[in-house]
Amino acid sequence: MIEFVDLNGGSEPFERIKTGIKEIDRVTGGGLVAGSAILVGGDPGIGKSTLLLQICAAVAKQNQDEGCFYISGEEAIDQVRIRAKRLSVEKSPVKLASTTELKDIIATIEKAKPTLVIIDSIQTMYLEDVESTPGSVSQVRACAYELIKLAKKKGFVLFLVGHVTKQGAIAGPRVLEHMVDTVLYFEGERGHHFRILRAVKNRYGATDEIGVFEMQDKGLVQVENPSALFLAERQGNVSGSTVFAGIEGSRPLLVEIQALVSQSGYSAPKRAVVGWDSNRLAMVLAVLEARCGFNFSAYDVYLNIAGGLKISEPAADLAVAMAVISSLSNKPLPSDMVVFGEIGLSGEIRAVTQPALRLKEASKLGFTNAIVPASFGKEKKTEGMSYYEIGNVHRLINWFN
Ligand SMILES: Nc1ncnc2c1ncn2[C@@H]1O[C@H](COP(=O)(O)OP(=O)(O)OP(=O)(O)O)[C@@H](O)[C@H]1O
Ligand SMILES: [Mg+2]
Repeated sequence: MIEFVDLNGGSEPFERIKTGIKEIDRVTGGGLVAGSAILVGGDPGIGKSTLLLQICAAVAKQNQDEGCFYISGEEAIDQVRIRAKRLSVEKSPVKLASTTELKDIIATIEKAKPTLVIIDSIQTMYLEDVESTPGSVSQVRACAYELIKLAKKKGFVLFLVGHVTKQGAIAGPRVLEHMVDTVLYFEGERGHHFRILRAVKNRYGATDEIGVFEMQDKGLVQVENPSALFLAERQGNVSGSTVFAGIEGSRPLLVEIQALVSQSGYSAPKRAVVGWDSNRLAMVLAVLEARCGFNFSAYDVYLNIAGGLKISEPAADLAVAMAVISSLSNKPLPSDMVVFGEIGLSGEIRAVTQPALRLKEASKLGFTNAIVPASFGKEKKTEGMSYYEIGNVHRLINWFN
């Protein structure tokens, strides 16, 4: 028999462990929840082991906690030690082991008093009872199940590292993502030194929250002011460049959007996008053709979000449209101007969420002009900023004439 209870009753708030690394605490919704399982996914070599060793060392050092375990199935003890030295965390009382035998791990942790357990990676773990090779769906699922069950029972924070497949899913199928409480993706472009930690699922906090880090030789360093970082290499007075005032999670983020429109040598002109949705670019181009009379059929269009960031907000539509027209007409936009607004199929510019927050960030970084949707309310205005309200894309033609 089960005993049913009321929704309303005495309940304990979640116990959260602050890591002291602000970006991590932000992404997890205010700290790590005891008894929860967190999956960290990311491309090979992006810095997952580095990040988790830093988290483990930070938590262990904070309270001189003897219950922080780092178990590597991929690297030998010496490799992890060398990394720890490079990150200057070798004095932290982390308990380190290199093994893939899940039975041993479970038996050992069962007897210990763990606060935090890191499994790097779940694909290397092996349970004898399951008749398949490590990394296979049934092994991954069975190992994760055992570990998560133990985390709930003993109330420790469990981190699982998961490799991302070519299709972008962690650990092959998505089963693992359903089993855990929180899924974090660690992203970044090769050749760029900053990394974004993004919450794509969180049972204990908001999703789409991001943490920004810079990969240095001494490890991952938090970035206090990401907008400044993403705009650092921007050159003023070039055509095809706009600054989009975006929001990632709860935080405003300014990024440069670059477009290059060039005469096409192909029978089917090229459309290439880095960091944004290519369907969305196709839509913006179609709207500009249908509503403003531009013709892109003889042009290749390249779009790039500078710095290797991936953005998914429709609020970037207007900034993309302006970058494209600016490049096509070879007319630069003022370098102290930010843009945001969503474009509808009939060419209307729609309001977006949190305009005031976007503008505040822009103003903080010295921008003085903003192109905003027409429905933008006066009460949201920021002092020291000039506004151009646009209701429809056909108004853009005036801008470039
Ligand atoms: N000596 C070093 N100096 C600077 N950066 C380094 C150094 N060694 C490694 N790195 C950086 O750390 C990255 C590898 O980090 P890490 O091993 O944490 O990644 P990972 O995501 O765990 O990789 P894997 O998928 O192989 O487990 C490298 O790509 C490099 O950018
Ligand atoms: Mg690793």
